[in-house]
Amino acid sequence: MEEAPRPNVSAQDVLAGPIPAHVACVMDGNGRWAARRGLPRTEGHGAGEAALLDAVEGALDLSIPWITMYAFSTENWRRPADEVRYLMGFNESLLLRRRDELHEKGVRIRFAGRRDWRVPKRVLRRMDESVDLTKDNRRCTLTMAFNYGGRAEIVDAVRQLVADGVPANKVDEKAIRSRLYYPDMPDPDLMIRTSGETRISNFLLWQLAYSELVFDPVLWPDFRRQHLFAAVREFQQRQRRYGGIS
Ligand code: IPE
Ligand code: IPE
Ligand code: MG
Repeated sequence: MEEAPRPNVSAQDVLAGPIPAHVACVMDGNGRWAARRGLPRTEGHGAGEAALLDAVEGALDLSIPWITMYAFSTENWRRPADEVRYLMGFNESLLLRRRDELHEKGVRIRFAGRRDWRVPKRVLRRMDESVDLTKDNRRCTLTMAFNYGGRAEIVDAVRQLVADGVPANKVDEKAIRSRLYYPDMPDPDLMIRTSGETRISNFLLWQLAYSELVFDPVLWPDFRRQHLFAAVREFQQRQRRYGGIS
């Protein structure tokens, strides 16, 4: 199968304009990428690794300080047990393979999501090791949304509010925001979803309130930094109004 075309956009082309401080990405289309090649879906997930690493490189090229990648949703447990098992093992081994190079590049790795009993212990261990290894890096923070759901995050924040004994008249946006998984993380300026699906699928529901959304038909395994650059260029052409007038 021939290679998917890449947008003809370079880092230089976009560096003249405003660069988003936080780009969030729904890495979608692995299964369809594999199906088109007559391969099992898991091969698509495997091929997504190169796309993820190149996207991180692209973010570093643009000096984007925050990137968040949706790797596994709270709804993805609905998939066949074999695929779920593959994804758990794949994410664990990806960390083992890639954490040193990410660390050398100055990337801080974090995870957003629920650490519930369904996530195998050894995956949690690998996550903790990666976080610990890279915790002092500041060039770019890569947050992997893993066993992540936007509603679950809000529920967890509300539980914390109640546990903290916050009275009703003290509940405001700041009180909720400060109880999200990473209160220091700025809201995404730009959210990219691949594979042509035009939905949020429970990603960062609170934080995406005023993000610019870019939907790219490219299937995730074919995504490369040029797609990121093209999305940033599109972002630069948007007019953000936040409910006001320009
Ligand atoms: C995204 O690709 C990866 C995960 C959700 C883990 P999909 O596996 O959803 O691929 P499609 O959407 O079926 O093509
Ligand atoms: C969203 O993709 C989750 C991730 C990319 C990890 P899905 O493929 O799970 O979303 P739906 O089911 O098409 O909405
Ligand atoms: Mg999908």
